[in-house]
Amino acid sequence: MCGIMGYVGPRQAAPLLLDGLQRLEYRGYDSAGVAVANGPISVRKAEGKIDRLAALLQKEMIEGSVGIGHTRWATHGAPSDRNAHPHADSSGKFVVVHNGIIENFAQLRSELGSKGHEFTSDTDTEILAHLIARRYDGDLVSAVRSAVASAEGAYALAAISEHEPDKIVAVRRISPLVVGLGDGETFLASDILAVLHHTRDFLIVEDDEMVVVTEDGATIESISGSEIDRPVMHVDWDIEQAEKSGFDHFMLKEIHEQPSVISETIAGRLDNHNHVRLEGVNLDSTFADELNQICITACGTAYHAGLVGREIFSRLLRIPTSVEYAHEMRYAEPLIASGSLTLAISQSGETADTLAAARLARSQGSRLLALTNVVGSTLSREADDVLYTRAGPEMSVASTKAYMAMLIGQYLLALHIGSAKGVLEEELVERIMRGLHALPADIETIIENDEEIVTAARSIASAEDLYFIGRGLDYAVAMEGSLKLKEISYLHSEAMPAGELKHGTLALITEGTPVIVVITQQSVYEKTISAIQEVKARGGRVIAVAYQDDPIIYELADTVLGIPRSDDLFGPVAAVVPLQLLAYHVARLRGHDIDQPRNLAKSVTVE
Ligand code: AGP
Repeated sequence: MCGIMGYVGPRQAAPLLLDGLQRLEYRGYDSAGVAVANGPISVRKAEGKIDRLAALLQKEMIEGSVGIGHTRWATHGAPSDRNAHPHADSSGKFVVVHNGIIENFAQLRSELGSKGHEFTSDTDTEILAHLIARRYDGDLVSAVRSAVASAEGAYALAAISEHEPDKIVAVRRISPLVVGLGDGETFLASDILAVLHHTRDFLIVEDDEMVVVTEDGATIESISGSEIDRPVMHVDWDIEQAEKSGFDHFMLKEIHEQPSVISETIAGRLDNHNHVRLEGVNLDSTFADELNQICITACGTAYHAGLVGREIFSRLLRIPTSVEYAHEMRYAEPLIASGSLTLAISQSGETADTLAAARLARSQGSRLLALTNVVGSTLSREADDVLYTRAGPEMSVASTKAYMAMLIGQYLLALHIGSAKGVLEEELVERIMRGLHALPADIETIIENDEEIVTAARSIASAEDLYFIGRGLDYAVAMEGSLKLKEISYLHSEAMPAGELKHGTLALITEGTPVIVVITQQSVYEKTISAIQEVKARGGRVIAVAYQDDPIIYELADTVLGIPRSDDLFGPVAAVVPLQLLAYHVARLRGHDIDQPRNLAKSVTVE
């Protein structure tokens, strides 16, 4: 995820900016840069590690005591020197860094292009520098306000200008921004951690607010111009806590980020006319008409996301869809018909097995579409089409927000293919759009009310064996819930379709055996209830993940982890969240290393 750093004060800005950016490194980035005003503005930027930027600065330091810096995690345009931030307008007098996404970037770029503006990068950020320059009429604050009024999306930006070299003007629209108040100097950052060693006094910039930073402090106002009196927040976290934004573990932080990850993954891709626009995916109607088979390949959590995809594509598009473990597929003899699409799913885009299976499918004539979180990853470079998930860097080995973004990506793909193929009724498209837009709030509700989950975690923390069951989409979620628990709690658990229980595993259910049942699918509701009855009859203890307004489940189950009622197509998306939290709390109770579980690596780049 990108990082912003700014400084105004008596000291040299460049070394301070560099230091702040280094402290944001843990968030992941692909390039970095700084801009410092001293009369004219000087910019230094480089693809790759911050060391490269540091070397550039060492060769030729830039003097000046007002500056902005950035670590970039690519969304628009590949990681490269030219796409690294800061970006300037054509005159070089207005310079900007920016986190997040400008949704109407293509439209703004063509409007500016038609007025003679020329661009030197592929980024949405550069548009902002040009817009600000165009709107400048002697007042940087008004120019930024006017530019922001035209730029839709979820972002944060910081701008400096040669005309007013005593200040930084910044705006927050969803992406975080804080001001650090020093003694005769002021810092701006996207993360408290970047400046915590300079000050413990902060002003938190809220959504749709502007801040003007000078060496005397900062003034905050709303985007519309009304003054805001923000109290100073004194922070007493230690550095380690600050890295995790105050959460005890990255995994918990990433679970909490899921509502905004959903919004980011959707941002700019759905319009008000029920159209989906997926930059990087070009499955036109000629291809879609011929498309007769989808094969999803992935490993681990990405494979479980694929299980959800299989249901979505088969149900919505009526296209036969299979999902294969990549490590199996690469040594099998997959039957790849012409007119097939292989969807390779990988958070990292570097998983060796997934790459091998994807290459095999492509060599046999399948079109390859990558669903990945990392711009420029090997998978993204080798695929015919790429859909990026925009979950931001995931630090915890146990994947949560990346899984969530993979699910959302597949709903978007179903809309894209369905519309190219012309098989989705308007009503169904509207239903999917509604479902997607409702998810962030539903997940927020689950995360905020986790008392029942903590109690359930206590009740299973010393269990020997656990079972997860569900049907259809709920089965996919059961698989993911079981994997999360295994990875970080080291408890033995198994997941299976609810109907499979009676074909053998039921022999293992005795007095008190915990069975976690996911039950959101109304079409198989009665069938799952029968499985619950089978478990109860053997003395098993049922923990159900179910809609919170379902009285039958509250009657039957020993514990219910309730989720807000939703469309059945989306119930399983929200249902995974209590299971992620359950795994987290069990691991915590058992005293394990949650973010770095034993024997596991974040990215499995060997076979
Ligand atoms: C998930 O919690 C695991 N860390 C693991 O199963 C992971 O999903 C798998 O190794 C695939 O990784 P990828 O998405 O980077 O390809």
